[in-house]
Amino acid sequence: MEHKIIVAGIGPGHPDYMVPEARRAIREARLLAGGRRALSQYAGEGVQEQCVIGADIPAVMDFIRRGLRHDDVVVMVSGDPGYYSLLDALRREFPAELIRVIPGISAMQMAFARLALPWHEADLWSFHGRVPEEGRLAYAPGRLAGMLTDGKYNSHTIPRLLLERGWPGETGLAVCSRLSYEDEVVIRTTLAEAENYPVYSHCILVVTA
Ligand SMILES: C[S@@+](CC[C@H](N)C(=O)[O-])C[C@H]1O[C@@H](n2cnc3c(N)ncnc32)[C@H](O)[C@@H]1O
Repeated sequence: MEHKIIVAGIGPGHPDYMVPEARRAIREARLLAGGRRALSQYAGEGVQEQCVIGADIPAVMDFIRRGLRHDDVVVMVSGDPGYYSLLDALRREFPAELIRVIPGISAMQMAFARLALPWHEADLWSFHGRVPEEGRLAYAPGRLAGMLTDGKYNSHTIPRLLLERGWPGETGLAVCSRLSYEDEVVIRTTLAEAENYPVYSHCILVVTA
């Protein structure tokens, strides 16, 4: 029988927001890859070999390739695997038939849930290690957008960037940080007033024009 790569979404962070199927796969894993924090939180007693997912992605691919010769390999990714995760790189390296994806709750979903906002009409932008194409950032009345952020593009720099592109200062802005954790923060403010609050990075921003 061919072994599989099981890509398990672990949700936004707190174990309560991980689906039971992902929990089961991780609990039963003998070969497990994930971020350092996820490994220390979830690696069970049955894990024979583990691999930290860090900057060295080729090393992770090697770990998976070697592991597949004798067992399934479980790969933990944050949020949902289909939304900006290692799944992209895995799909370039391995055929789809070898990959089983267990969905997770994305931080983006969680942010809209916290705001009690339907997100079917929302534009989704990633400022995580990239900047969306200029044309996508244009202001339009009624526009709703959710954003991934990083250290550079954060709750201070992104509002500034949108103001420079003509978004009105009174545009609603929600800053959603550490979603699902005990120190979760959700701030409702405006683009103009965002700088009156501490800077939050690696959070979700939602603008409602
Ligand atoms: C590489 S993306 C991963 C997205 C992930 N696949 C998902 O579906 O949530 C990392 C970004 O997700 C957001 N993020 C992840 N966990 C978060 C949380 N608990 N609270 C707020 N934002 C979070 C941040 O913008 C962070 O920089």
